[in-house]
Amino acid sequence: MCGIVGYLGTGQAYPILIKGLKRLEYRGYDSAGVALVNQGSVDIHKCKGKVSDLEDHLNGVIPEGTLGIGHTRWATHGPPNDINAHPHASGNGDLAMIHNGIIENYATIKETLENRGHVFVSDTDTEVLIHLIEDIQSKTSVDLFEAVRLALAEVVGAYAIVVIDKKNPDRMIAAKKSSPLVIGVGSDGDYYIGSDATPIVEYTKNVVYMEDEEVALIDRNTGLKIVTIQNKEKVPYIQELEIQLETLEKGGYDYFMHKEIYEQPRSIIDCFRGRMNVQQGTIRMSGIDDHAEKWINARRVIIVACGTSWHAGLVAEYLFEDIARLPVEVEYASEFRYRNPIIYEDDIVVAISQSGETADTLAAIEMAKEHGAHIFGVCNVVGSTISRTTHSGAYTHAGPEIGVASTKAFTAQVTVLTLMALSVAQKRGTISDARLHRLIAELNSIPDKVEEVLKTNDQVEYISDIYKNAGNALYLGRGSSFPVALEGALKLKEISYIHAEGYPAAEMKHGPIALIDEEMPVFVIATQGQSYEKVVSNIQEVKARKGKIIAIVTEGDKTVKAMADHSIEIPKTDESLVPLVSVIPFQLLSFHIAVMRGCNVDQPRNLAKSVTVE
Ligand code: F6R
Repeated sequence: MCGIVGYLGTGQAYPILIKGLKRLEYRGYDSAGVALVNQGSVDIHKCKGKVSDLEDHLNGVIPEGTLGIGHTRWATHGPPNDINAHPHASGNGDLAMIHNGIIENYATIKETLENRGHVFVSDTDTEVLIHLIEDIQSKTSVDLFEAVRLALAEVVGAYAIVVIDKKNPDRMIAAKKSSPLVIGVGSDGDYYIGSDATPIVEYTKNVVYMEDEEVALIDRNTGLKIVTIQNKEKVPYIQELEIQLETLEKGGYDYFMHKEIYEQPRSIIDCFRGRMNVQQGTIRMSGIDDHAEKWINARRVIIVACGTSWHAGLVAEYLFEDIARLPVEVEYASEFRYRNPIIYEDDIVVAISQSGETADTLAAIEMAKEHGAHIFGVCNVVGSTISRTTHSGAYTHAGPEIGVASTKAFTAQVTVLTLMALSVAQKRGTISDARLHRLIAELNSIPDKVEEVLKTNDQVEYISDIYKNAGNALYLGRGSSFPVALEGALKLKEISYIHAEGYPAAEMKHGPIALIDEEMPVFVIATQGQSYEKVVSNIQEVKARKGKIIAIVTEGDKTVKAMADHSIEIPKTDESLVPLVSVIPFQLLSFHIAVMRGCNVDQPRNLAKSVTVE
């Protein structure tokens, strides 16, 4: 949460900062601001709202300077307003700073500084940190690089920061702990900073992913220097970026979410490409193959994740238990880490995260590591913190997901988890060759089936129009369709602001049935499979109470179609792979309803894509 950018180079900073902030806006959009060093002053421009509001606020004025920083905020300390917007200045106005993270001991530091005469104008923890840096500089007369290092040694919490000084237009200082920070190294002596690589990829492919507790000095004359908080010099490790610029654009769609829903046939192929051999019926995943013994002898699998990634984890529970016969527990990372859980050395902890930065998931990983468990990461963002913290892992290769609501990341996660379950099952000897071949062939056909489901778009749009003003909605499913019901409900509430609940279909009669009346749309996954008949009975229960049924059915279905108010047909597939196709109509439905209700589809209120606070 919060996106930060920085630039020091030969060109004008402002256009680079604004473009970078637009790329990072998915991380928070409560306020935006920039600060540029120009002719001995540091000009700060900031306001509540989005990056476009900042541009309006500047009213055609283009701030000048070849050194600058920018910030887009997801509010933690203090409401979203102009004053709490970043960058924040030191008391003497010399320094400006942007920050992503939370300084946990800011209140104590603030009190000490106030006693020393510092006056604060905002409610933020960030302003406290920049005053602390200023205070250290004035007390000790060390240079800014050293003052930042000394200040951070006093700080408890998470930070990615960039600091500039109006007296020194040739330097910027960056540091990170727990929040991500990437430095781009241009060929012409230009340096770029971003919370991720998206603001950088246009200018250079050479990047340094900063490690925790590192402080970087970027100097026009001497280049890049990195030290640890303990003042140990590190050699910057430059890596080449893999992302392509086109993947960061809308490519003809009006919304990133719409584009990302339609990308799924391709992203699922990208996910299994090179890992699955359909002819031979084999799976190759180095993250599993290199640790085969651990998987064969594992006591159980514990999946930790949040939100949509947690739903993918619930689908994986069915896959791993059914196919690989391994006991699985699926945990909200935020609950798991505070529960004093029992973790054994022969447990495998699978952390699922699109961004690879989610603070709770990261903390859960650290705790599981301390207990000696093997940690496997399923991440989308290459080079993200989680992907670098785990012992092994598999990328989902879905490409950048920019819409705040996860769509293609979910199907890519389920695809990777399916491959993992198959690979582990093969190693543990819990799957017959015939079933393995069949499932691999079926997985291979999923992109075409997703393509088919996308053709229901007009029908889903029609249904969306009917239910767009609903106050509540219920989503029901059984087996591995239950997590899809949860995911459908989450999609609807987060982008349309309609209250929705996902339930195992049979649980409905234990409470939620009381909510059903003629106003209530009930979305049911009623595809062919072992609990089809049971779901048919659940649908009858809803109909008896005049609820409206919108059913996802297998093509050719007659029974449910005759009962439902609307039904959407999806192609037949193996029961264990149904979530990959049945989730698509729900994604489309929430997208259309959100558009019809005039909601901001890509940037829903109060949310951010990368949740780097607990
Ligand atoms: C919902 C959504 C969130 C994320 C959650 C975890 O559409 O995107 O629920 O799934 O914040 O994020 P990651 O996967 O980045 O750890």
